[in-house]
Amino acid sequence: MKTSAHEQFAHAMLPETTVDEFSRQEFVKSFKLHLANKVSPNNRVVYERQVRPAFEKEHGRPPKNRHEIRKVMNRDDHYKTWSSLLRTSQEMMWTSCQVPVARQLDALIDTAKTANGAGGTLTLNPDVAMPRYLTAVDIHCQPGSYHAEVAKDDVAAGAVYDRGVYLYAMGRIGPANDDIGASQVAYIQHAYPDLAPKRILDLGCAAGHSTAPYKQAYPDAEIFAVDVAAPMVRYAHARAESLGVPIHFSQQNAESMDFEDGSFDLIVSHILIHETSTTAFRNIMKECHRLLAPAGLAVHSETPPYKNMDDYDAFILDWDAYNNNEPFWGKSHEIEPREAAVESGFDPDKTFETMAPSAFEAAQAKRSNVFQGGDFGGGGLWYLYGFQK
Ligand SMILES: C[S@@+](CC[C@H](N)C(=O)[O-])C[C@H]1O[C@@H](n2cnc3c(N)ncnc32)[C@H](O)[C@@H]1O
Repeated sequence: MKTSAHEQFAHAMLPETTVDEFSRQEFVKSFKLHLANKVSPNNRVVYERQVRPAFEKEHGRPPKNRHEIRKVMNRDDHYKTWSSLLRTSQEMMWTSCQVPVARQLDALIDTAKTANGAGGTLTLNPDVAMPRYLTAVDIHCQPGSYHAEVAKDDVAAGAVYDRGVYLYAMGRIGPANDDIGASQVAYIQHAYPDLAPKRILDLGCAAGHSTAPYKQAYPDAEIFAVDVAAPMVRYAHARAESLGVPIHFSQQNAESMDFEDGSFDLIVSHILIHETSTTAFRNIMKECHRLLAPAGLAVHSETPPYKNMDDYDAFILDWDAYNNNEPFWGKSHEIEPREAAVESGFDPDKTFETMAPSAFEAAQAKRSNVFQGGDFGGGGLWYLYGFQK
């Protein structure tokens, strides 16, 4: 007997699940929710009541940053148990998504190959090289990262990611996994009411979750999206066609794209930057400057930066850097947008950074109000920074 994932918004590319497969995925989601809501908060209690006082007794001062906190917490049994269980939940999550995808991969590939109707396009480029920052590790423990292909015209990485993200965020980024895009576009419309973009580009679109809200917000605009991994753009294109949203997807490295200078009015990215590198970040910012038309806007979103954050919160949000194969996570949370503006040719005085409320938050009364490792849907706020040309 088959059932579809009734909480996540179904479309032609969302893998179907048997009852057992669905139960397994639901278990992973509940397990993650339990760890986030019931176990993680006690890490702070342990820190405040035992670990920090012991550190102060030994050193005559409190820990001075998130790294010192990590080193002492790494020896604490409660923290070690939570951390180990969270890592286990991550590995269980990917396996629970891979099994149904493997079972129906041929059908998913066929559906993707015939996807049409919305008016979007798909352009692949087999000459695009995968950057080392995506191949050196299985990023966020996703087996094969975004790029691995086991079949011709493979879409497995996209299908696994689509369902995996829903479980990872514990449903907190909405039935279409589109909260980051929806929140960002809501902010842009609020802060730049006169912006009427004709051409919009989304960088590192993955399954296209965050891209679609731009078509809804700017129905007259042409929407383009790039991702360096072929299985992701194949999947994203088929998903968008199934949802009736016309988007032009292409396989490109956002560090060096084939679009003409000045060809976009709005360039966006959502949780792309933390998966790149210092050099790639600089290259991507320069590409944004090159591709924007005069007065065009570039906006990027991530989880909150560590500056102005309590050291303990920064330590716990930093969990992914050390335990979830996210090597650039820590450094990306220390990016200074004004410095990036100067390096890439933007006017630092036309740079902004803000915390934008989640568009989906209102419907999610049960959300936690803290960001924590393995919980990017938890805070109810996204960190946005951007540049106007
Ligand atoms: C976390 S996912 C992005 C999620 C997506 N933006 C969303 O909001 O649903 C990161 C994606 O960025 C892609 N990526 C990483 N580096 C890239 C680069 N240099 N150029 C293009 N895509 C890149 C990866 O292949 C992956 O699909």
